[in-house]
Amino acid sequence: MPLTTPTLRTDRLLLRPFEDRDREDIYALQSDAHVLEFWDSPPWADRSRADTFLARSRTMAEEDRGVRVAIDRLDDGSFVGWATALWSTPEFRTGELGYVLTKASWGNGYATEAAGALLDWALEAMDLNRVQSEVDTRNPASARVLAKLGFTLEGTLRENCIVDGVVSDSWMYGLLRRERLPA
Ligand SMILES: CC(C)(COP(=O)(O)OP(=O)(O)OC[C@H]1O[C@@H](n2cnc3c(N)ncnc32)[C@H](O)[C@@H]1OP(=O)(O)O)[C@@H](O)C(=O)NCCC(=O)NCCS
Repeated sequence: MPLTTPTLRTDRLLLRPFEDRDREDIYALQSDAHVLEFWDSPPWADRSRADTFLARSRTMAEEDRGVRVAIDRLDDGSFVGWATALWSTPEFRTGELGYVLTKASWGNGYATEAAGALLDWALEAMDLNRVQSEVDTRNPASARVLAKLGFTLEGTLRENCIVDGVVSDSWMYGLLRRERLPA
């Protein structure tokens, strides 16, 4: 049965399916060079990328490849970013976790809160045994988010990315189902 993109509530955040009204917010986020500094692709320079992103956010669940959720603050409804949980190898029950938040929202614990909620949902709904995330070694904030969620630093992928000619290493973080969920 295909996945359904969830709506999840945390203490301060709402994680929900993307809608057409998110077009400007997602374009502003993904075209921000500071936010995308350690991302594995360059910032967007073309507004049509937002339409593709929104369309993919819908089809990825329909095609059972994973889910992508928008993240809003509950108190004022403002958009603070997005998170994704994707299959890596379904037969091995492995998946990937990712997230991007607006610069203005950094430093409030929102990434940990949102990614934790999506992680817990994915472990159950996608029946994952292992979740992994690759982090640019120049991005300690993201590494810290994963550490706070209980991920283990498993190694370094040397020269794993080349973005606009800049070569970078990635840390591989992994988390096993039994390390997060009660037995
Ligand atoms: C990485 C990112 C999601 C963090 O979002 P956030 O909401 O600020 O994260 P949180 O507040 O939940 O946690 C960040 C942690 O990193 C720490 N941190 C922030 N900058 C740091 C730095 N330069 N060095 C070390 N730790 C740092 C914070 O102190 C906090 O840890 P603490 O709670 O122990 O104090 C956000 O910076 C972002 O969207 N970056 C751009 C996209 C990105 O890199 N995505 C991840 C790709 S793998």
